Amino acid sequence: MWYNINVLNFLYNRQLTYYENYSRNVEGIASSWYSKFSVETSELQDMRIPFGIPAGPLLNSRYCAVAFSAGYDICTYKTVRAGSQRVNDFPNILFVHPKQPELHFAEAECGVLADTTPSEPLNISNSFGVPSFDPDIWQPDMQLALDSCKYGQRLVGSFQGLDGSIKSFVDAAKLIVETGVKVLELNTSCPNEGTSSLLCFNPKLVAKITEEVKNAVGDVPLLIKIAYLNRAGTDEIDENLLEELVSETVLKGRVQGIAAINTIPSKLVNSSGENALTGGRQTSGVCGSGIKWAGLAMTAHLKAISRRIQDKIGAGFRIVGVGGVSSPDDYFDYLNAGADEVMAATGPMYNAGLAYEIKRRIVYDEERAVSGGLSGITLFI
Ligand SMILES: Cc1cc2nc3c(=O)[nH]c(=O)nc-3n(C[C@H](O)[C@H](O)[C@H](O)COP(=O)(O)O)c2cc1C
Repeated sequence: MWYNINVLNFLYNRQLTYYENYSRNVEGIASSWYSKFSVETSELQDMRIPFGIPAGPLLNSRYCAVAFSAGYDICTYKTVRAGSQRVNDFPNILFVHPKQPELHFAEAECGVLADTTPSEPLNISNSFGVPSFDPDIWQPDMQLALDSCKYGQRLVGSFQGLDGSIKSFVDAAKLIVETGVKVLELNTSCPNEGTSSLLCFNPKLVAKITEEVKNAVGDVPLLIKIAYLNRAGTDEIDENLLEELVSETVLKGRVQGIAAINTIPSKLVNSSGENALTGGRQTSGVCGSGIKWAGLAMTAHLKAISRRIQDKIGAGFRIVGVGGVSSPDDYFDYLNAGADEVMAATGPMYNAGLAYEIKRRIVYDEERAVSGGLSGITLFI
């Protein structure tokens, strides 16, 4: 089966509430994602590449199952917590229109136009507040998601804390490991409960949390998902902060990989310059094409650090490149910048066929495949 491109309701439908999306029968509407006229070759169907969907659009096992079957070989189950947490007010997703193709921090802080009208290149807001069901609900469902993982594919369990306590991170990690999921991702790119700044800007606290999580989960590989670590109000990466984060986590054996980036926090305004989101939300994360520059820059910086560590101690760390991937070229750009794996959230939400587009490019465009596609494909497990 080929997947149609430009299918607007793949994975998450922004016109429905989070809970309506959660209950949606995604298998039932999957037929609209397929083109009737062609069939993927078994070569493509059996092919595995280090590409997938990061925490977010895959709300439960039904979403994971369709994503695996659509050729996304690394699927991340949306971030869970050790207890339930309500979603932010609707709407959670608006279309965002930066003045230039790239969204930079100056504009993000001043105000970016956001509304319900789609535009190209595609950027959306993502203001969910990391909702979670109770573990009694998500644990058995995560096991089902794991069952839908085919040979060579991988399910990642994303988690974060609940009440600001380190214990709530550890509990969530242990609950995921109980389901049989073999790779964990700790989301440090949301505000830590009770504070306004993102957890990843506090390497000492990340160090404490990852130390306790790692002690609890043993050999299960642990990734941390981080934001674009900039100097306040600028596009400049804070090298010292990044170095400190790596040395407090990777070098101490607590973390085996780093995923970057999450979204660019932005003030969203309507055409009258007023707050575009209800419920007193001043800022929201923005994802999509406009943040690709930031994801690529972080990937390149992380790669340089990883190489240095590799030279020193013989082992680097895994780099997961995320942000603004919506085409095969974007995927190769991330591999060339040093990513070991590449993830796309917004892209596949509006183009169900992205994974197969990349696979077709690898099979039918040998020059590309040799330069960046097929070399170095080793999944974690
Ligand atoms: C609908 C949606 C929900 C998301 N929820 C989460 C989440 O629960 N945890 C997380 O770490 N990132 C979350 N993200 C952020 C994505 O994982 C990703 O880092 C970000 O969207 C940038 O990638 P993109 O430009 O390909 O969308 C979410 C993104 C979207 C679009």
